[in-house]
Amino acid sequence: MTKINVGLLGLGTVGKGVATIVARQSPQLASAGLKITRAAVRTITPERQAHFPDIKLTTDAFQIVNDPEIQIIVEAIGGIDLPYALIQQALRNGKHVITANKDLIATHGQALTALAASQHVALNYEAAVMGSIPILRTLNTSFAGDTITSLAGIANGTSNFILSQMARGRSYQGALADAQQKGFAEADPTNDVEGLDASYKLLILCRLAFGLDATLASIHRQGITTLTAADFAAAKHFGCTIKPLIRAIRRGNQLSLTVAPALVPNTNPLSHVDDEFNAIELTSTNTKSLVLIGPGAGSLPTANAVVADLQAVAHDIRGHQTPTIAAQVLLTAEALELKTPQLVVLDTDLSITGAAIADHLGLSCVTYQHNNELTLLSPAVTDETIDTWRATLNRLKHVKVQHVLPVFNPDGRAHQTQLQNLTTTSETESQSF
Ligand SMILES: NC(=O)c1ccc[n+]([C@@H]2O[C@H](COP(=O)([O-])OP(=O)(O)OC[C@H]3O[C@@H](n4cnc5c(N)ncnc54)[C@H](OP(=O)(O)O)[C@@H]3O)[C@@H](O)[C@H]2O)c1
Repeated sequence: MTKINVGLLGLGTVGKGVATIVARQSPQLASAGLKITRAAVRTITPERQAHFPDIKLTTDAFQIVNDPEIQIIVEAIGGIDLPYALIQQALRNGKHVITANKDLIATHGQALTALAASQHVALNYEAAVMGSIPILRTLNTSFAGDTITSLAGIANGTSNFILSQMARGRSYQGALADAQQKGFAEADPTNDVEGLDASYKLLILCRLAFGLDATLASIHRQGITTLTAADFAAAKHFGCTIKPLIRAIRRGNQLSLTVAPALVPNTNPLSHVDDEFNAIELTSTNTKSLVLIGPGAGSLPTANAVVADLQAVAHDIRGHQTPTIAAQVLLTAEALELKTPQLVVLDTDLSITGAAIADHLGLSCVTYQHNNELTLLSPAVTDETIDTWRATLNRLKHVKVQHVLPVFNPDGRAHQTQLQNLTTTSETESQSF
């Protein structure tokens, strides 16, 4: 069997994992006849070359995308500008491309998909969204006769690891340090903890799930950096835990998009997805609910998704089939404003009661006091109402709004009666979690 030659751009966490899995040649993979012949890195050392004796290393990635012997390019460098130029060149040269790069696909995915379609080559990026979870393949192949109405999930392992540690009693800083020490968080974790990484994944998911193109600016995005132990106490009081959620709800061509730490009732499967794991729940007309859970990052889990793409492309090449890629026609998503129950978290000097604040807002709602932190569980309201409340509350002398956390309601129609302890409670003693 003639080999299908693969060029690997990057031999870091993901690239090395791909080289390792391909070298193992499982029986299923052996039938694909894949061979990694060249790899691009920044630094070549004799030890590194010795570690990959069958792969010729270069520091010039363009040599690989211009190599006529190579049929498939795997991009695992990261960033946007360089991989964009490399992938465009590879596609123009008639090569199939696989990438793990969500930033690039969220930013230039449409242009690259159109280029791949015009060249009749594949552009696959399963590993870019939720690492090991085969969510893109599932969206592409399993919902042909179904309509997805909403999706929700945990798309960032770093944030989920930090919030899982905080639910067990760690401080934010302590949990972040643990994540960095275990390699789950980068030295600069901004993209992860501010929800940017998850937002990129949400945009990609919306294209495949709904055929709708949305912008980063249309996402209601909130980071996890201001959360404290008292938030977890309040969540626990209401029978919930706090998870870094992505959520998209569709009504026609309208989308309501959120990336935020949210209160998830303990009865929902997403509340039990901990640490670096990712998960996604799809709600659709026929299937109703489908949940997928798995490691969202890491060398071998991510590389496994890349290798699944490699095998699919090899299968198409051997069957002389045009890869199943089409220049997807996307409609532009319009904004959808939905009402959501919210946990309004306030710092107070204890001179004002929850009932007085609720009165001030003209609300009848449940409150929970934990030391200086007072939380109000609001009925379902719009973001506009929340903004009005913020302004009103910040004018009060003894109160400061810390943050407002949404309560997860998968279809946008759930009611806060799903939660526990819907009676006003005050706990001014310190609590251990
Ligand atoms: N890590 C994960 O768990 C994970 C999960 C899902 C998706 N991804 C995505 O996968 C991609 C790669 O991530 P990673 O974690 O594997 O990154 P990484 O560990 O930093 O590896 C990057 C690799 O690219 C090489 N490289 C960088 N600049 C280069 C250049 N100008 N020319 C040639 N080679 C260059 C590096 O070479 P040197 O080794 O010589 O420095 C390194 O081997 C990113 O888009 C990331 O978002 C990662």
